[in-house]
Amino acid sequence: MKVTLIAEGSTKEQRMARRWGISFLIGEDVLFDTFGDGDVFMHNVRKFRIDLSRVRHVVISHDDWDHIAGLWPVIETYKNLAVYVGPHFNQDLKDRIRSYGVKLVETPEPVLIREGVYTTGELTGHSPRGVLYEQSLVIRDNLSLGVVTGCAHPCLADILRAVRSNFGDDIGVIVGGFHLKDMDQHEIRAIIECLAGFGVLSVAPLHCTGGFAVEEFGRVYGDNYICLREGDVMDVGERV
Ligand SMILES: [Fe+2]
Ligand SMILES: [Fe+2]
Repeated sequence: MKVTLIAEGSTKEQRMARRWGISFLIGEDVLFDTFGDGDVFMHNVRKFRIDLSRVRHVVISHDDWDHIAGLWPVIETYKNLAVYVGPHFNQDLKDRIRSYGVKLVETPEPVLIREGVYTTGELTGHSPRGVLYEQSLVIRDNLSLGVVTGCAHPCLADILRAVRSNFGDDIGVIVGGFHLKDMDQHEIRAIIECLAGFGVLSVAPLHCTGGFAVEEFGRVYGDNYICLREGDVMDVGERV
């Protein structure tokens, strides 16, 4: 399945400038996260000729600001879509989404979004700010699974563990923010090492993965490390 990186921030400078966050188009009709700056998001939508009128599903990974800013211009214009959030997401966010007259779907458990695309359902993570709730996407194509993460606050390894226990198969490709940037090098190496046990063959680390972890991914995965830039399209869910 085609996954397009619409917008992404990953450097310290981008974070300072609030050009931060992530957003993907999955196929032609699923948006996964909507970046932290609505103007940048809409600029890139136009630049990459993304047809928002085809979008039927918007899945929000978690309620951090850098994943939701582009949602508002989308649902301001397009009403024929459903927005998927975890039950523990911020109540004001859920109320605001409803106020636009779009369908709001809460996802405590794994659920089919549309053929071949599932959410993991809400998983629990921890950060210095306290408990966080986040969902990731699972793409099933042919033989293997692909996993797309927003920030991976519940820990990348725990997300993959949940995917494997709920979906059964190996996970061939992972793409997204892996939130390894604040971990020490030892922990980062341990997490990268354990990915092979889930069957991970190729990786596209983005956003909050962090510079050291990205280098490690490059070293460990070699040609199967995918450097994705805004506007790039990759196949997720197919065995490489
Ligand atoms: Fe983030
Ligand atoms: Fe986050």
